[in-house]
Amino acid sequence: MRILAIETSCDETAASVVEVQKSHQIKILSNVISSSLPLHAQTGGIIPERAARQQVKYIIPVIIEALVKSSKEEYGSYEEKFKHAQKIIKDEIDEIAVTIGPGLIGSLLVGVETAKTISYVFNKPLIPVNHLLGHIYSNFIQDTISFPFVALIVSGGHTDLVLFQSHKKYQWLGGTRDDAAGEALDKIGRLLSLSYPAGPEIEKRAKKINSSKFVFKSPLLNSGDFDFSFSGLKTEVLRTVKKLKNLDEQAINEICYSTQKAVIDVLVTKTLRAAQKFNIQTILLGGGVSANQTLRNEFELNAKRYQLNAHIFAPELKYCTDNAAMIGAYSAFHPSYTDWKNLQADPELYFDL
Ligand code: KG4
Ligand code: ZN
Repeated sequence: MRILAIETSCDETAASVVEVQKSHQIKILSNVISSSLPLHAQTGGIIPERAARQQVKYIIPVIIEALVKSSKEEYGSYEEKFKHAQKIIKDEIDEIAVTIGPGLIGSLLVGVETAKTISYVFNKPLIPVNHLLGHIYSNFIQDTISFPFVALIVSGGHTDLVLFQSHKKYQWLGGTRDDAAGEALDKIGRLLSLSYPAGPEIEKRAKKINSSKFVFKSPLLNSGDFDFSFSGLKTEVLRTVKKLKNLDEQAINEICYSTQKAVIDVLVTKTLRAAQKFNIQTILLGGGVSANQTLRNEFELNAKRYQLNAHIFAPELKYCTDNAAMIGAYSAFHPSYTDWKNLQADPELYFDL
């Protein structure tokens, strides 16, 4: 069975053809992403209106590219590819999966309305997908995962801990009360004049040193719940930067090191505490920040400290940040269809789909 998956929740226009093999093994036949990130780097953050306009521009070329790449044949001109893509949808695609939320309404609408049109014109069933669950299911692409597990979603928009008992039964344990972890890294990066998004550069700079004279608090580290808060960290860094006479390369690297440490400490500690409390041996990471190698290493090291014999799974790097393959992976395990007439984008969607 083959699924055409579409993801347009924020600044990435993404489409993927996913083959679901026997016993739910997933093979990614194509994974195409067009990002409007360079545009947002100019403004140091995403302007929703600009992101939506880019989605409109790229959605059809990206879907065509994903469909054509899923077949072995080579096609030259755009017209040839367009014709071939139509034939592939008709003959080879069994289902359409699309992100319906959460995200930016203008961006989401582009993917949702395109998916509805394809579903109607080609008479293909439609599967609505929660973007956050997609991040978790990015782990199912290369690994066989067994239940129960605790999932940590850490991205630019979200920081959530969720306990999964099965594909259908899950419980939200906690999440951020203000900024998401990636959002905090990006805002702190702006204070330090780093390029947007700052997460990857903060990681690179932190790796250059082994210690730092700055100590930033890990917010809510000992709050006893599974909530997070990162806006105070940004204020702490701002105060430090203002006090500094000279924000030289060494100081920037040290601030990156201490910022990353404060964020990672609380993410790792709370996730492992959740695993311990619910006696869970499998932990899944997902979302853009889970691309951070130091975060992955700290999970492995600290699991031992908590005397957990836990398996830590994290997606391949290309499936950490927003992509459509993860939307296809989720839908492979959740074939619940919605009539195109009833499908709606929901920017506020949370863990209730
Ligand atoms: O999942 P994603 O692509 O978009 C959302 O759904 O939000 O995540 C983007 C976030 C950005 O905040 C970016 O700074 C962060 O992921 N990020 C990283 C790394 N790569 C991306 N943060 C820390 N270390 C990284 N290597
Ligand atoms: Zn995301």
